[in-house]
Amino acid sequence: MSGVITLIKEDHQKLESVFKKLEKAEPQEIPDLLRQVQELLVPHSKAEEKVVYPAIKQIVPDESSDVEDGLEEHHHVEATLEQLLASDPEAPGVDGLIAAMIGEVRHHVEEEEEQILPSFSEAASNQQLSELGEQFTAAKEEELQSLRGGSAGA
Ligand SMILES: [Fe+2]
Ligand SMILES: [Fe+2]
Repeated sequence: MSGVITLIKEDHQKLESVFKKLEKAEPQEIPDLLRQVQELLVPHSKAEEKVVYPAIKQIVPDESSDVEDGLEEHHHVEATLEQLLASDPEAPGVDGLIAAMIGEVRHHVEEEEEQILPSFSEAASNQQLSELGEQFTAAKEEELQSLRGGSAGA
């Protein structure tokens, strides 16, 4: 099992590859790509909030305010994504909103990867990182199922 840092970075890369498609998408491709973003981003963010961020605050208290900022960024991005999912992809302003959302996520990912996660991986033990990786994966799976709602089991 890979440690939690690797798992988080892998998710970021998957998200980035959907963003690249979204930036070049025709309007009719946008809804499907936004759903792909939602299924990657929402469970990832919620699992970070449930499993990873509390561990960071505990192990690296100096990162607490960055973690709080990160939480706010998650919520803002999720609200924008909800708005986009409810929008007609040809509506004026959609392109700008997509670009803004992608920009916010890239900024957030950069902060996690360049600042928060390196301090965390320095302070945490390999065993902690590996256990958190398992908890992160389980939390993500749970969130994905709840995001999909009844449709998966129906
Ligand atoms: Fe992340
Ligand atoms: Fe995050």
